[in-house]
Amino acid sequence: VRHLLGIKDITAEDIQLIFETADNFKDVLNRPIKKVPSMRDITIANVFFENSTRTRLSFELAEKRLSADVINFSSSGSSVKKGETLLDTVNNILAMKVDMIVMRHSSPGAPHFLSRHIDANIVNAGDGTHEHPTQALLDSFSIREKLGEVAGKKVVIIGDILHSRVALSNIFALQKLGAEVMVCGPVTLLPKYIKELGVKVEFDVRKALAWCDVANVLRIQLERQQMKYFPSLREYTLYYGIDKKMLDSLDKEIVLMHPGPINRGVELSSDAADSHHSIILNQVENGVAIRMAVLYLLASKQ
Ligand code: CP
Repeated sequence: VRHLLGIKDITAEDIQLIFETADNFKDVLNRPIKKVPSMRDITIANVFFENSTRTRLSFELAEKRLSADVINFSSSGSSVKKGETLLDTVNNILAMKVDMIVMRHSSPGAPHFLSRHIDANIVNAGDGTHEHPTQALLDSFSIREKLGEVAGKKVVIIGDILHSRVALSNIFALQKLGAEVMVCGPVTLLPKYIKELGVKVEFDVRKALAWCDVANVLRIQLERQQMKYFPSLREYTLYYGIDKKMLDSLDKEIVLMHPGPINRGVELSSDAADSHHSIILNQVENGVAIRMAVLYLLASKQ
């Protein structure tokens, strides 16, 4: 595999290898000197055409922990604003002897398009509503860390499934690793093809929470909604918002996840997001080790 474009394209064995490699890097990250020389001959460009906090910073940190040389590009403030194309932009970056491209783009399929036109390794850091493979890897890695394994676990993804690349990549990863997957949200925020993905569908959030071992809660992606969707944010919170009282009232412990950014008070109350149920900041921590593993494994295949 030369690129990581999506979880759909990789096998359960590939995912296990990424996890085992990330286990080793997590040990490195817990040492006083958190750096290894593995990629000191590699230059990586983080090319972001869309906003990001977690993904961009954790890729940059992962690259620096691996001793790679790093350059960062944001489309805002670049010559994209003067009309330069995606391919011209990336080819100009590659002309500076860059080896790998980590790219986030608002158009689904943008990294796949690039992979047909350039020689460098590409890692998809999120392409529109399509896939966010490293997020799904760090999510499943975090479930494995908390519960011992992913196989056999019941995982519900709650929220705006229709506009979420995190949901699609998570469904692929969780199914490949042997979890049972449910999605839960208003019918207007579920894609029409959802049943074809082999997931359970539940419209009642309380029933979904009672069913699951893990709840991965997504935000409403207002920036991707072309029209005024039902429900409104107020209605969404009324019917689908999760608070600590709901979690505490379950007759078992469940694990609460969120890829971030959280819209506090909409999909999650602060007392739920910051409760003992939550592994949200562990997900962020694991993002660095997972991205180190992905970059290291791709570079070793060059
Ligand atoms: N989870 C995630 O992709 O967050 P950012 O958009 O901040 O990178």
